[in-house]
Amino acid sequence: MTLAIVDVIARLLHIISVLVWMGHNYVNVIQNPVFKPAQPSDPGAMLGAMQREHGIFRHASLVALVTGIYMLWQRDMLFDALTLSGQAAVIGAGVWTGTLMVLNLWFVLWPHQKKVLGFVPASDEERIRCSRITFLSSRTNSILSIPTLFFMVSGAHGVFLYQ
Ligand code: HEM
Repeated sequence: MTLAIVDVIARLLHIISVLVWMGHNYVNVIQNPVFKPAQPSDPGAMLGAMQREHGIFRHASLVALVTGIYMLWQRDMLFDALTLSGQAAVIGAGVWTGTLMVLNLWFVLWPHQKKVLGFVPASDEERIRCSRITFLSSRTNSILSIPTLFFMVSGAHGVFLYQ
């Protein structure tokens, strides 16, 4: 398989995983525009669907991270992107905000979401407290997604704007 084919596959996986992850996030913004505390007794079937949905978008974020890093590494742009150097500075800014999103998802949202979704047993009060944190963490990623998308797309198509 040539490098070009691997690059096409990585790009496709990157875009699909970003769509899955951000699609979930934006649906959440529309379904829950304001904070709603976790319900004391979420019905089992609903909880199962939410656990599955959460697992899919959480792992999609890792696919986005790995494929993104791979594309930069393969083009020998990783160092310049991370140090915000030259033409790679634009996508580099997106890489940093995107990485913040992945860290926020895995290290702030997920440890609390485990209790909200019943992966880890917790009292009703604790689930309500955690649901406030997952709400704020998720909204932080919605906000960060705007500069991330902007820098990703500008890095690929609008670098001339920044010369
Ligand atoms: C987490 C680390 C990430 C890295 C290292 C990364 C890296 C990359 C790279 C190298 C490209 C290809 C750019 C090119 O064509 O030269 C790309 C494209 C893209 N990325 Fe990311 N990305 C990351 C996260 C994200 C996130 C979180 C989002 C969405 C919120 C995102 C949205 C996009 C989009 C929409 C494109 C297509 C841009 C275009 O061709 O117009 N990426 N990314």
